[in-house]
Amino acid sequence: MKKVTKAVFPVAGLGSRFLPATKASPKEMMPIVDKPLIQYAVEEAVAAGVTDLVFITGRSKRAIEDHFDKAYELETELEVRGKTELLKIVRDTVPSHVNCIYIRQAEALGLGHAVLCAAPVVGDDPFAVLLADDLLDSQGETPVLKQMTDVYNYHRCSVLGVMNVAQEQTRQYGIVSTERDSGELQRVTGIVEKPKPEEAPSTQAVIGRYILTGRIFDHLRQLKPGAGGELQLTDAIASLLQEEAVLAYQFKGVRYDCGSKLGYLQATVELGLRHPEVGAEFAAFLASRQA
Ligand code: UTP
Repeated sequence: MKKVTKAVFPVAGLGSRFLPATKASPKEMMPIVDKPLIQYAVEEAVAAGVTDLVFITGRSKRAIEDHFDKAYELETELEVRGKTELLKIVRDTVPSHVNCIYIRQAEALGLGHAVLCAAPVVGDDPFAVLLADDLLDSQGETPVLKQMTDVYNYHRCSVLGVMNVAQEQTRQYGIVSTERDSGELQRVTGIVEKPKPEEAPSTQAVIGRYILTGRIFDHLRQLKPGAGGELQLTDAIASLLQEEAVLAYQFKGVRYDCGSKLGYLQATVELGLRHPEVGAEFAAFLASRQA
């Protein structure tokens, strides 16, 4: 019985909504308080049992490779200065049993194309896809990807993380139709990328967490450009579900869309308030502003 031990992190997007911050450095390296978005996603994957991290990178993404690499000079400097706590933080960026693999997506042709770039490493195995700009806060409960691998281990088919959105927001997401209108876990009957509100089959939106079987690659290879002229993962999933079961899972937790300015600020406030070092002072600051 194959477990999900590989995770793909597509990080080759342009991040245009965050320009000029993303002109020379990746969106995924933007910090929420003191940790980059990509590290939150990596920690979630590792907590779910993932041991191979496959980053699909593009131009201006060197910072991600450096972040997960050994930082000899910095570590030596911290050691000499006796900064043991900081040294531990720097060394613990990824656990030693975890491998980082980098694949370059030469052109940002779309999320479907980015995932297809991982095919030589993933092979036929089931794997996870995490979009790091979706920060998933499980509020101390089971991390969201672990919730999804538990579903996968039981049902042995692809699982999409979904949540309900307002009708007028359907054009920002992939939207699924399911056998029933509600329920934590449902079989997907259709999926469409960024439908207009009046054409959306439901308000259940796919967020940036997927578990996919290796069969998806055959469907990705057949893809034609879809919404926005991009090769859409959604379209490959629509094709996959003609031959295999795909489940929609309403995850437990809160999702922050950190690819948007508002979501990014909301995550910063929430996680800032909970931060062990600055949380109390930050709360006092926010309260003083409301007074
Ligand atoms: P987004 O739709 O958020 O696009 O991509 P983006 O380019 O990152 O950001 P904006 O919209 O221009 O501000 C969803 C995810 O897919 C990845 C992105 O890095 C992001 O994690 N992606 C997208 C790729 O890796 N390659 C692509 O060709 C497109």
